[in-house]
Amino acid sequence: MGRVADDDIRRILESAIQAPSADNHHRIRFAVDDDRIRVFAAEDLVLRPEGYQRLLALLSLGAVVENLRIAASRFGVAVDTRLLPEPERPDLLLNCRLQDGGAVVDALWQRIPERHTCRTLRFHGPSMSEAQRAELATAVDRYSPCRLIWLDRPDQRPRVLRLMRLAETERFRNPLLHAELFSAVRFDVGWHGNCAEGLPPGSLAVEPPLRPFFALLRHWPVAKAANRLGMHRLLGVRSCDLPCRLAPHLGVLTVEKPDPRSLLDAGSAFQRLWLTATAHGRVLQPLPASALYAAAGAQGEGIPDILQQTLVDGWRELVGTDTPVMVFRMGFAAPSPIVTGRQPLAHYLRSS
Ligand SMILES: Cc1cc2nc3c(=O)[nH]c(=O)nc-3n(C[C@H](O)[C@H](O)[C@H](O)COP(=O)(O)O)c2cc1C
Repeated sequence: MGRVADDDIRRILESAIQAPSADNHHRIRFAVDDDRIRVFAAEDLVLRPEGYQRLLALLSLGAVVENLRIAASRFGVAVDTRLLPEPERPDLLLNCRLQDGGAVVDALWQRIPERHTCRTLRFHGPSMSEAQRAELATAVDRYSPCRLIWLDRPDQRPRVLRLMRLAETERFRNPLLHAELFSAVRFDVGWHGNCAEGLPPGSLAVEPPLRPFFALLRHWPVAKAANRLGMHRLLGVRSCDLPCRLAPHLGVLTVEKPDPRSLLDAGSAFQRLWLTATAHGRVLQPLPASALYAAAGAQGEGIPDILQQTLVDGWRELVGTDTPVMVFRMGFAAPSPIVTGRQPLAHYLRSS
C-alpha cells in the first residue's frame, strides 16, 4: 500500500464539496497532509451544544463525508473518519485517515455530479418499485442510528403536512427566520445567473410572474405588511404544502438520539439515499424545517416555544421516540435548468 496520489486527493475533495449543504454554504476547510485530511470549521461555524443550527451543520458535514468516502473508493482508497470536536481545539471537526488499497469501488461515485436539489412544484410518478424501496432502505441501514420512514399512507400525509406547513409558514412570519432565509438568496446574480455560494434565485422554481413580488418580500417591512394579509400562510402552502401533496413520496430520516455522531451519520445516510434516488432517475427536495424547529434548544434560536412543542408532539405521534432530522419529497421531474455552483477547491483548503 502506497501513499495516495496528490491528484487523487484533489479529485476526492472536489467530489466532497459537491455535497448538498444548508443554503449552499460549506462552512468548513480541509487541511491535507500525507494520508490525512483534517476538516476544520470555518470561522463562522461553531458546533453549538443544542438547537437547530447544529443539526444543519452536522447533517451538511455528514453529506460531505459520504461524498468523500464514495469518491475515495473510486481510487481504491478507504477512509476512516473520527468526529473530534475537543474542548481545546473546537474548530477541528474531523480527522479522516486515507488508506490506499483498502476500498471496493462504490458505483455511486458516478452520481455525485448529477445530484441536485429540485424545487419544481410537481414531482410525478411512477412510485418506487419494491426493489428500489429496498435499495433506499439499504442505503440508510448502513448507518445504524438512522431510520428511514415513508409517510405516504393516506392517514399519515395530512398529519405530516400540518407540521411542515406550521414550520415553513414560520420561516416567512418570524423576522429572524425571514432574515436567515432571504440572506441566502443571491438576488445579485439575477433570475438566470448562477453562483458559487448561496442560492441562485433561478434554482427556487418561483413562477416568472411572481418573481418581482418574491424579490420584494426580502425586505422585512414589505413582508411584514404582506403577512397582515396572510402572505406567510400562502407562501407556506406554495413552498411546502402543495409540492408535498403533489409528490409521490414523502420521507423522514430519524435518529435514535441526536448526539453529534448520530447526526453526522444521518447526514451521510441522507446523502447515500439521495445518490441512490438519483441513480433511479428520481429527484428530491429536502424540506427539514418541521424536524429542525422541533430540536431541543431551538427556542434559543428564535423558534417560539409553542411551535417547538407542537412539532415535538406531532412528530412523536408519527415516529415514536426517535428524533426526526430530515424530511424530504421525492419523485420524477425535469432537472432544474439552474443549479448551484461551488467555489474552486482552493477556497476550501487551509495549510494546517
Ligand atoms: C441540511 C440541509 C438542509 C436543507 N434545507 C433545505 C430546505 O429547507 N429547502 C430546500 O429547498 N433545500 C434545502 N436544502 C438543499 C440545499 O439548499 C442545497 O443542497 C444547496 O443549495 C446546494 O444545492 P444542490 O443540492 O443543488 O447541490 C438543504 C440541504 C441540506 C444538506
